[in-house]
Amino acid sequence: MNNGIYDLLEQALLSDCPDEKGRLTEAAFELSRRNGFQPEAAGRPLDFRVAGRPPKPLLVAPSQVTPRKMNTVEGYAAMLHAITHIEFNAVNLALDAAYRFRRLPAAFVQDWIRVAKEEVYHFRLMRERLRSLGFDYGDFEAHNHLWDMAYKTAYDPLLRMALVPRVLEARGLDVTPAIRAKVAQKGDQETCSVLDIIYRDEIGHVETGNRWYQHLCQERGLEPVALFRRLIARYDMFIFRGYVNIEARERAGFSRFELDMLEDFEKSLKQGKTGN
Ligand SMILES: [Fe+2]
Repeated sequence: MNNGIYDLLEQALLSDCPDEKGRLTEAAFELSRRNGFQPEAAGRPLDFRVAGRPPKPLLVAPSQVTPRKMNTVEGYAAMLHAITHIEFNAVNLALDAAYRFRRLPAAFVQDWIRVAKEEVYHFRLMRERLRSLGFDYGDFEAHNHLWDMAYKTAYDPLLRMALVPRVLEARGLDVTPAIRAKVAQKGDQETCSVLDIIYRDEIGHVETGNRWYQHLCQERGLEPVALFRRLIARYDMFIFRGYVNIEARERAGFSRFELDMLEDFEKSLKQGKTGN
């Protein structure tokens, strides 16, 4: 074992224990902040289908997750559990970006380790909120949609940046304000404060994804707006369904021009004419 950065990231990714995963992520962060940090030359990353996770929560298809009725303690806890699980997956996703895509600048590795460290913080904060209600992470079933997308995009950092931070994580910016409003209505100020931290940091994470997406497009001589339209059509993804938080997306580096173009494009896709 050489205790290089990839070694640490691999241990963190494969760890089944959330506490240990958190500690290893923090150790990787410390290492990545040292003066003159450069990821060591390394071989190929391991190709694993699933990252380390505890035996519970039980994973089910998204459609089988029990509905979360906010008016019961259990329903409210299930909703908090869903967010806790997203944060847990987000730790693995950010670690995987730092670990998997080699031959990218040191700043790429540093950025995604920083994101992973912030996701560890979010996970701990949310888990505390769950525990305050007498529940814990693993007490409800969950789905693995976020991680599945990591696996599908494991062969190309450009695809990963396009579809995970710019589509899936950006979706969090749309839904968090509504969740926060419901939590505030219940008078749970402590959870509101945690959601505020998460929301603030997630804008930064989407911005990080946006920045590297632009960088990789430029490096390959690809036009980012047109390419993104083709990718979301090919992978059957969407941005404009339900409420879209334009203000947060602009702060996360989407241009108004691109958002307007996407909205039109998705409308035309829905009508069955791609316009592309
Ligand atoms: Fe997060």
